[in-house]
Amino acid sequence: MPYQTLYRDGDGAVILDQTRLPFGVAHRRLQRLEDAADAIRSMQVRGAPLIGATAACGVALAMQTDASDAALASALDVLGATRPTAVNLHWALARMQAALTALRAADRMAVAWSEFAAICAEDIATNAAIGRHGLELIRRIAGARGDRPVRVMTHCNAGWLATLGHGTALAPVYAAQGAGIAVEVWVSETRPRNQGLLTAWELRDAGVAHRLIADNAAGLLMSRGEVDLVITGADRVAANGDTANKIGTYLKALAAHDNGVPFYIAAPRSTIDHDCPSGADIPIEERDGDEVRHVHGMAAGQADIVAIALPGAAVANPAFDVTPARLITAIVTEVGVVPPERLHQLATGASG
Ligand code: MRU
Repeated sequence: MPYQTLYRDGDGAVILDQTRLPFGVAHRRLQRLEDAADAIRSMQVRGAPLIGATAACGVALAMQTDASDAALASALDVLGATRPTAVNLHWALARMQAALTALRAADRMAVAWSEFAAICAEDIATNAAIGRHGLELIRRIAGARGDRPVRVMTHCNAGWLATLGHGTALAPVYAAQGAGIAVEVWVSETRPRNQGLLTAWELRDAGVAHRLIADNAAGLLMSRGEVDLVITGADRVAANGDTANKIGTYLKALAAHDNGVPFYIAAPRSTIDHDCPSGADIPIEERDGDEVRHVHGMAAGQADIVAIALPGAAVANPAFDVTPARLITAIVTEVGVVPPERLHQLATGASG
């Protein structure tokens, strides 16, 4: 990874500001709880695992200013309200709460920073394990495909930008590249926020062959037999395997099902919400309509925002959709590749 997405720096932290990519690289310093909350809300940091780690960082920043019970409760509330769909946010906050609540105020700041560091270190290890398990899926297809590259389709960005390590959906791709298996990635642009551009930026930097496509090209490519497997990340996996991910994921899963293309979700266990019975119970974030009315790009060498609809045009902007478990071949986790109907085994820690 050419940059770290989030790291502690003295009495603050530093993030890579993803709203400036792919045209510019900028960092932002987080000094207070509100900085961390704002970075999550404004999508300067994004992707479920990174959102969770940033929330943990926000709690540590809050404990530096005031480590009272009231300040802890307020930090958990403020951060918990930043974005609704990615369950890793609530997972990380619950973990911080469990680590800090019983402590004396004087001890909370140091423990908060060490819990934040543990969450970051675990995410790196988790990404690597997802990569190893996903690599075996790609290796199997490569064996059957002979000389030509394995063609992976992904959606949104679930690479290193979305995590602390090598990513979730892209971890198997990077692992395949490391193992000398030729891969080629179809990258859908992912309107309205165009996180596909972040994926293309990552893959270009890593030297992985890829092609950027309009979101609506996915079905045709699958019907032509030009996709061997689809791998996307997830923001929340319900107990029955229904999975919320970036808007447009469901349509890819439908097209994959219709064309016999295996459809995998790559996600850590912290993205599985065993308290959420089904996809119908997952809160779907509705974002600002201006994200649909405008596109961000470059014009005459300058970053620019261009209107593509008349001012005030009526729009809807649901940020995620739910792919039903029946369309998901399996979920690639850090402990193995699990079909959706066997997810409950992960809740109890049972193997296999
Ligand atoms: O709104 P974002 O950019 O935070 O959403 C991220 C996604 O939905 C991605 O598709 C990703 O796969 C989930 S996080 C690894």
